[in-house]
Amino acid sequence: MKKKIRLGVNIDHVATLRNARNENFPDLLRVAEILRDCNVDLITVHLREDRRHINDKDVEELKNRNYLPLNLEMAATDEMKNICFKTNPSSCCIVPERREELTTEGGLDVKNQLDYLGEFVSEFKDKDIKLSFFVDPDIDQIDAVAKLGVKIIEIHTGKFAINFHKKNHHLELNRIKQAAEHCLEIGIDCHAGHGLNFDNVKEISKIPNIIELNVGHFLISNAIMDGLDMTIRKFMKIINHPSI
Ligand code: PXP
Repeated sequence: MKKKIRLGVNIDHVATLRNARNENFPDLLRVAEILRDCNVDLITVHLREDRRHINDKDVEELKNRNYLPLNLEMAATDEMKNICFKTNPSSCCIVPERREELTTEGGLDVKNQLDYLGEFVSEFKDKDIKLSFFVDPDIDQIDAVAKLGVKIIEIHTGKFAINFHKKNHHLELNRIKQAAEHCLEIGIDCHAGHGLNFDNVKEISKIPNIIELNVGHFLISNAIMDGLDMTIRKFMKIINHPSI
């Protein structure tokens, strides 16, 4: 039987909403408690160079409160490495980052940066942090990750998700299946994430050796769809019965 798939919930966009006002609402720590109560496996945050959503204090507080294991997504820079070592999250996923992008637009090009990334990875050797690389479903990139001695990849499912929407996803789905199969053959743990939602995640969760998914934008957005009605009704009750 297929193992239960672990779920990491990315809460970056709770911080996006919070940052729209200079107040602490929605409170990330309260959201972290909700995730714990739902039996989510990990809290995932992407600390970006420009701190457009999650900030350094969020990372520190989420780690200190320890509601759930923290999965820190970050670029392979010295600044981020220092924050990671100071924070000591349970896992760390290395992602590419371009300042002008709206979201992570593709996997990390590991095979063309082997020297730089090799040095970067070597500093994680004596740390108790599960290191992974976010890569496209590309066998050469996965082999490059393996060459660095890194034992986990997260497959970028963004292209599949966009194509799924256009009902043109079979080629990309096959690439993901082959990539996951290759991971099994060479002893690499295979995670996946980006753009996943109620519809497209079914295909991904059927792939036998994908053991963890990281999902953010859809879950936070859909919480508005499922929660707005109740929130407005509660508000209307309060304004019309303020003394109750
Ligand atoms: N995994 C990684 C490595 C990511 O960078 C992101 C986006 O921050 C996600 C998963 C989640 O993607 P989405 O927000 O589209 O679910």
